[in-house]
Amino acid sequence: MAEPILSTRDVVVDYAGFHALDGVSLDVREGTVHAIIGPNGAGKTTFFNALSGFARATQGSIRFTGIEIGGLDPAAIARMGMVRSFQISSIFPHLTVLDNVKIALQARTSLSRRLVASPKTTAVLDDPARAALAGVGLVDELDGPAANLPYGKKRSLELAIALSQDPRVLLLDEPTAGMGIEDIDRTVELIKAIAPGRTIVLVEHNLRVVADLCDRVTVMQRGKVLVEGSYDEVRSDERVVNAYLGGGHA
Ligand SMILES: Nc1ncnc2c1ncn2[C@@H]1O[C@H](COP(=O)(O)OP(=O)(O)O)[C@@H](O)[C@H]1O
Ligand SMILES: [Mg+2]
Repeated sequence: MAEPILSTRDVVVDYAGFHALDGVSLDVREGTVHAIIGPNGAGKTTFFNALSGFARATQGSIRFTGIEIGGLDPAAIARMGMVRSFQISSIFPHLTVLDNVKIALQARTSLSRRLVASPKTTAVLDDPARAALAGVGLVDELDGPAANLPYGKKRSLELAIALSQDPRVLLLDEPTAGMGIEDIDRTVELIKAIAPGRTIVLVEHNLRVVADLCDRVTVMQRGKVLVEGSYDEVRSDERVVNAYLGGGHA
């Protein structure tokens, strides 16, 4: 079998002596949609932070495309092709939807080295930014302030910002959180549409979404991997049932 595109071994992340991650070893195969589930506080977001360079692993190894990336900063990891979805809080509310994506694109090009990029130089980012927004169904709201988007579309904008980086591996932390059923369905379709040719790792609480989207499921609990397998294997595992019943809501 081919080497996994992403592979961690015994990753530990410490917060003042508390192990938010306590030895996580996990392989993600290229081209799969891989879910990470588990009770609140299990360490799922911390794991994404470690993968994307936002948290420093104090022990263990993180290999992406066979290259050790532990210790690299987020921008370097994004340039290598692993991108984490940005949270709504990173959207600039007063800028237009289009400019939000252009800013993200600018951050990964040489344009960011200029203190102030002129409108003329950033015009080259128009087409890729529009393409990313078209990909998430936001073509009709390019010119309005991002603040005016309803919640579900703000989440789509986050996805467009991540997609504009053309990631090989996309990390999505609870992409359907807080959504009503219609936005959930739309987001599932969106993820299906962007999945071909990429690898997607997502943290997801909605098990219907996991069942619908994911080839592989890893269950985390208290900073460790509890179980890994297909959705059906994981769902019927007694340890998983106990973790969910005993460890807060799913
Ligand atoms: N920056 C931080 N400082 C201190 N503790 C943290 C920090 N981030 C997360 N934690 C703790 O690490 C544990 C795992 O958190 P998190 O990764 O957010 O869990 P999950 O995403 O699975 O709900 C929790 O106990 C949380 O309180
Ligand atoms: Mg979390």
